[in-house]
Amino acid sequence: MKTILLTGGCGFIGSHFVERLVASGYRVVNLDALTYAGDVANVSSVAKADNYVFVHGDIGDGALVQRVLSEHQPNVVFNLAAESHVDRSIDDAQPFLKTNVMSVYALLAQCLAYWRNVASDQQSKFLFVQMSTDEVYGSIEDGLFTEQSNYAPNSPYAASKAAGDHLVRSFRVTHGLPTAVVHASNTYGPRQFPEKLIPHMISSALAGQPLPVYGRGVQIRDWLYVDDLAMGLERVVKSGEDGGVYNFSGGDERKNIDTVTELCGLLDELAPAHDTYSDAITYVKDRPGHDMRYAMSNALVGDRFGWTPTTSFADGLRTTVAWYLDNRDWTKRIAAKGYDLKRIGTG
Ligand SMILES: NC(=O)c1ccc[n+]([C@@H]2O[C@H](COP(=O)([O-])OP(=O)(O)OC[C@H]3O[C@@H](n4cnc5c(N)ncnc54)[C@H](O)[C@@H]3O)[C@@H](O)[C@H]2O)c1
Repeated sequence: MKTILLTGGCGFIGSHFVERLVASGYRVVNLDALTYAGDVANVSSVAKADNYVFVHGDIGDGALVQRVLSEHQPNVVFNLAAESHVDRSIDDAQPFLKTNVMSVYALLAQCLAYWRNVASDQQSKFLFVQMSTDEVYGSIEDGLFTEQSNYAPNSPYAASKAAGDHLVRSFRVTHGLPTAVVHASNTYGPRQFPEKLIPHMISSALAGQPLPVYGRGVQIRDWLYVDDLAMGLERVVKSGEDGGVYNFSGGDERKNIDTVTELCGLLDELAPAHDTYSDAITYVKDRPGHDMRYAMSNALVGDRFGWTPTTSFADGLRTTVAWYLDNRDWTKRIAAKGYDLKRIGTG
């Protein structure tokens, strides 16, 4: 049984990935600092599983990471821990530099020391996987980014993720640590922190608040349902290769205003109020440096892993809205940890 040290497993994507790996029989060690964005309740379904261990701690804590590596002897380290919200990085980039750059460096340094000491027949089987984003490639007017595209990050968040990716690359080239990097497009689904576009709009609509859309809402995002991404990440655990770069995208592009309008239509159906929710849409001053379009090809992961997204946006959005309606207490409790309804998110 492979052991996976997964970081950030109490967050949105991490919690779905943890559930998937545990169900598939991997031994999963989840290291999470439980920042405002993480909550152990997100992984309560696996808390008692024999093949699951939770460690509360920071990826930047070298002594702790060293102990966890030596105790659990992972075959794969999958780093999802991050500061992940673009708007927060515009307000203050410091926590992004700390977690997404310095702490990635600290994690890599511990992984390198660990890897140098594992048995030589196991060294080539080890893999450090860095979870990254399509945002490191910047904005694209036409066509699709591929795994060969150059980095051109535009927000402090994207720049910090790009720096983390470059450190990962340097540890591979300089020290020989086997590494891979995954880029995912805008991911959505249950348990996403309510500052991101889709849950933010759902929470605001249900609270009778305005639905703030940046600019004219014409920015284009490519949406990927979280279970589809988790399925792809599991393929990386199973068959990812040293030096691999893997782009996972939903192939479902739409303007932000169309996403919000579709969401309002679903809320009208599932949680009718006396007015249509779309009446609450308000256009607000655009975000500085706002990327117009993200779009990546997922051809390589289709060829390499036979992966393709299986959830249409219509189905994924319906499941997501239904989940937030059924879990209003979750949103209230999570929101109390540092979410301001007036903070605008575009995911
Ligand atoms: N959500 C998206 O649309 C998206 C798209 C592409 C890539 N990503 C990347 O995927 C990863 C997960 O994203 P998410 O949306 O699930 O994020 P999230 O903000 O929901 O969760 C982040 C998790 O990391 C933990 N964490 C933060 N700092 C830590 C530290 N120093 N040590 C240990 N744990 C720490 C938090 O407690 C939380 O559980 C991130 O690396 C993000 O950059 C996200």
